[in-house]
Amino acid sequence: MAAMSNTLMENIVALCKRRGFVYPSFDIYGGLAGFFDYGPYGLALKNNIVSLWWKQFVTDREDVYGIDSATVTKKEVLQASGHVGGFVDPMVECKKCGERFRADEFGLEVVPASITDKSCIAARMPRELPCPKCGTKGEYTPPYMFQMMFKTNVGAKQDDTSVAYLRPETAQGIFVNFKNVIDSFHPKLPFGIAQIGKAFRNEIAPRDFLFRAREFEQMEVEYFVKPAAWQEAFELWRTKMHEWVAAVGIDTAKVHEREVPESERAHYSKRTIDFEFDFPFGQKELYGLAYRTDYDLRNHAAARGVDLSYTDDETKEKFIPHVIEPSLGVGRTILAVLLSAYTEDEMNGEPRIYLRLKPVLAPVKAAVFPLLKNKPELVKKARDVYDSLRSALHDSRYTFAWDDNGNIGKRYRRQDEIGTPFC
Ligand code: GAP
Repeated sequence: MAAMSNTLMENIVALCKRRGFVYPSFDIYGGLAGFFDYGPYGLALKNNIVSLWWKQFVTDREDVYGIDSATVTKKEVLQASGHVGGFVDPMVECKKCGERFRADEFGLEVVPASITDKSCIAARMPRELPCPKCGTKGEYTPPYMFQMMFKTNVGAKQDDTSVAYLRPETAQGIFVNFKNVIDSFHPKLPFGIAQIGKAFRNEIAPRDFLFRAREFEQMEVEYFVKPAAWQEAFELWRTKMHEWVAAVGIDTAKVHEREVPESERAHYSKRTIDFEFDFPFGQKELYGLAYRTDYDLRNHAAARGVDLSYTDDETKEKFIPHVIEPSLGVGRTILAVLLSAYTEDEMNGEPRIYLRLKPVLAPVKAAVFPLLKNKPELVKKARDVYDSLRSALHDSRYTFAWDDNGNIGKRYRRQDEIGTPFC
């Protein structure tokens, strides 16, 4: 079973590279762990996924506003949000070879509250556990906290006063624009602000292809509600997330909800449900749905002395809204979509690979082939069909391919491999 699963991941990684979906970044320089580039078909697939998400979560609704905020984030924002002190992972180091690992991946239950939390120092790695890199047994440092944000400096001064971070979640860009959106649009509760964009985390152990990257994209909604209405909103977005999973063609039988216990929840969350997927490397988090209370707005308001409250028109009641957050990773969506779509079978005694993608996601919507390259009348007719498709469906969502190379069966197989619905 394990060997089969590994093969599936290996096949998907190989297909992604061979057919121009996803390449390791800086490939000719030996790569850089946790970074990926999208090739032409991968970019088309990603664009189709994010547009479908934007349609379902933003434009199909009257109560969600879209924004696009800066990725480099002021230190004070992430101090107030609790990320500077709290966005940490427990790490252990093999004393023999110096390799570092996430302590929790060894089953060591250390859940740090903050970077200065010393409680986990007492936790020890089991003595019989060999280092996955050099094999030495039990020669680990006690777990210590590792800050996962990428630090940078803004401006010419390279000192503590100019420190900024690459955002670890798109959410904070939304919270700091809450007042702007209220002032420009005067929305009534409940309403949401959505954003799709890059997030950056200096993961200790990036792995499993797009699953755990150091630079990745998130699609997030912060949905602001009256404090007493949070459960209703939580259920609303829970349903929307299931609808999304089905719409995007992820195998729904492989998606499982997990109520995240308090000890594992992020510092801001009072309730989280993880949507887990049966990846070949285990049942792991695909998406998260969190009840963030008024944690973020309250802390930004307190840090800056600004009023981030909302006044109810009818009751004149003034309060800080509470937040429900559906948070979806683009890379994990692509991986789950590919794993759900990847199919191998036999055709005319030959092995065939094809992607059962939803047509809305397919990078190429239709391919046109002249049966024979050296028959001008066939080539002309096929070209007419191809040109008429291109002019009739002149929209970036509709992409068409022309292929007159090699035998016709091979041309079909090439389109099968990238999930083209029509040839
Ligand atoms: N704003 C809430 C938040 O960021 P999270 O559970 O840390 O919560 C949300 O991340 C989603 O972002 C995850 O469910 C996953 O889809 C994606 N994600 C998180 N870390 C990732 C990583 N290192 N690589 C790829 N995707 C990641």
